[in-house]
Amino acid sequence: MPPPLMVRFHGGAAGPWRVTRMRALAGAALPAVDRIAVQEGMAGAPGGAIAWTLAGSTGNQRYTERAEADSLAARQQGLARPEARHAALIPIRKSEAWWSLAQDERRAILEAESRHIAIGMDYLPAVARRLHHSRELGEPFDFLTWFEFAPTHEAAFDEMLARLRAQREWDFVEREVEIRLVRE
Ligand code: HEM
Repeated sequence: MPPPLMVRFHGGAAGPWRVTRMRALAGAALPAVDRIAVQEGMAGAPGGAIAWTLAGSTGNQRYTERAEADSLAARQQGLARPEARHAALIPIRKSEAWWSLAQDERRAILEAESRHIAIGMDYLPAVARRLHHSRELGEPFDFLTWFEFAPTHEAAFDEMLARLRAQREWDFVEREVEIRLVRE
């Protein structure tokens, strides 16, 4: 497991990712922007006007069991594949009801009941992902989820979103914004 990486997503006028669609599925929207710049670690901040910045850090896995970790490692792809020109940034905040559960109760909802990892695994290796934790940073969202895929896998990505959002885990999602992107 690599050490935690601090990542900032800057919404504004600059950056390689052009916003094609932005919508709030639950809770408040984010101000509309034209582009997103992703700043990793100690890299410099992008130039240009910035409307908002969301920060998160990669970290250790909380819920994944050994067999799942091995299956994921065998199938998942890294970010920045040349053909993966489409992306999605989906910031998510979960409710107090979720955070007041114990670890084993959250795992039971996430996987035993909602099959989050099993569903997600159906879309590997097409979709590459990186999960950033924001809750401990006092951010407006608990998680910043990031996905990259080739344009030909757009429909599969949409299908995955629909499957995941139909699960009980999503009853605990109180804010969710979906930002779809194209790299130019
Ligand atoms: C957490 C896999 C797609 C949102 C996780 C975890 C795994 C996983 C293994 C648990 C990490 C841990 O142990 O802490 C996948 C795979 C996907 C996928 C393989 C397919 C590409 C998605 C999508 C969304 C999403 C499309 C959002 C719409 C989240 C969130 C968490 C999470 C918010 C954190 C849950 C929590 O800690 O409460 N995912 N996922 N995932 N995933 Fe996914």
